[in-house]
Amino acid sequence: MSTWAQLGYLAAAVCFILSLKGLSSPRTARVGNLLGATGAVLACVITFYEYDVDNLNAILIAVAVGTVAGVVGARMVKMTQMPQLVALFNGVGGGAAALVALLELVPLEGDPDPKLAALIAVGFTVFVGSVSFAGSMVTFAKLQELMTTRPVLFPALPVVFGVTLVAGVALAVDVVVNPLIWVGAVLSVVGLLFGVLLVLPVGGADVPIVISLLNALTGLAVAASGYVLENSLLLVGGTLVGASGTFLTRLMAQAMGRSLANILFGALRGGSTLGGGEVSDRPVKSAGPTDVAILLGYAQRVIIVPGYGLAVAQAQHTLRDLVDVLGSRGITVDYAIHPVAGRMPGHMNVLLAEAQVPYEQLKEMDSINGEFKQADVALVVGANDVVNPAAKSTPGAPIYGMPILNVDEAHRIVFMKRSMRPGFAGIENELLFDPKTTLLFGDARDSLSKLLSAVKSL
Ligand code: TAP
Repeated sequence: MSTWAQLGYLAAAVCFILSLKGLSSPRTARVGNLLGATGAVLACVITFYEYDVDNLNAILIAVAVGTVAGVVGARMVKMTQMPQLVALFNGVGGGAAALVALLELVPLEGDPDPKLAALIAVGFTVFVGSVSFAGSMVTFAKLQELMTTRPVLFPALPVVFGVTLVAGVALAVDVVVNPLIWVGAVLSVVGLLFGVLLVLPVGGADVPIVISLLNALTGLAVAASGYVLENSLLLVGGTLVGASGTFLTRLMAQAMGRSLANILFGALRGGSTLGGGEVSDRPVKSAGPTDVAILLGYAQRVIIVPGYGLAVAQAQHTLRDLVDVLGSRGITVDYAIHPVAGRMPGHMNVLLAEAQVPYEQLKEMDSINGEFKQADVALVVGANDVVNPAAKSTPGAPIYGMPILNVDEAHRIVFMKRSMRPGFAGIENELLFDPKTTLLFGDARDSLSKLLSAVKSL
């Protein structure tokens, strides 16, 4: 490879690293994203110029189709559907790595003295890439509600799971000993089956964590394919994805108070990972926007708890307007941000940043939890699981052990939601029936605009 191409690859690798750094804060995320995209484009351009590319027309058609699908898909997707988009993109990456490794078996098959390390990398990539592809497609189907979001179990699942894993490892070893394309093809089919079996027993609330895990696996598969193709940039890029995906998986599992083993195998062991989703008919106290406006207007300290429903209703701008009006009346208002509020890491930060909410008003869970005691009103907008005391009090609840926002300690609580339906984990929230709780029913955007007018007219 020429020196300029190596320097170009180095520049692309630096872009990837800086991109990750940028993505670690909402303030710099946009620049981080752009840097990552720049690195990827640079890598593609260099690869085209540096290597003798066969089948150029077919490649260009594939690039065009991929670009159109990517642009249209990314523009059409709603922010709340981002996890499934990530699952789809991730699966395609894993599948591509597996296919490339499979095709590498063609020259290796005829090579009288193949390198052992390359053979190991091929076996690993075919299996792990196939697992990642199939697993990601099932997570996509679950999140898009094309199939049930509940754990899918059948009596022989643990046995089939174990047998498939053993068969996968044995075939990967066989690929190293007998590098034959058909052995690789069978390995890939077993990998696909294992990917499906790995994700089927995972319940709704845990699916986004599994996406992150599969993302890490794709990274490792891509890194290994970089080794096979002797491409240093693929090695670097794959390792970065593998490492960051592993960290993200750990952080998300921690934020939900779950171990990875519990997430993956909890249902296999018989534990529930998702509640029943029943709707309660116990009586609750509800009020109209005017009553809630009076409650807010005469408070000194208000803490807002945003959740998934705020994103669904796209009510972030109206919420910010309400907070501005309350602020102009001398009321201290903060937003309490739970790490897994919404459906993806940083969901609430991104949503509120879109509405130009100042970062100083966004308080992380650990820093605000001690302040609920002093809050006159906790206004919960489209959040449920992240404030559900069952996480502390009900062993066996799917969210048991998840740190929550201490909304129950506020003097008064207002929940804004459309119905008595539970949150993502599918379990009832005792706080809705608490004597100090008031419910303001309705779509969050509609309720917030009525609340805004009512506060203005106080
Ligand atoms: P949820 O517990 O899912 O509650 C969302 C609430 O919003 C529901 O009570 C729903 O009630 C309400 N809602 C939905 N649409 C609405 C609308 N248009 N207007 C007003 N209200 C609306 O959300 P959360 O508290 O943010 O918790 C997040 C959940 O996702 C947790 O279980 C978490 O573990 C899981 N999760 C998150 C992540 C990340 S990284 N964020 C990853 C994995 C899992 P109604 O239907 O009655 O309106």
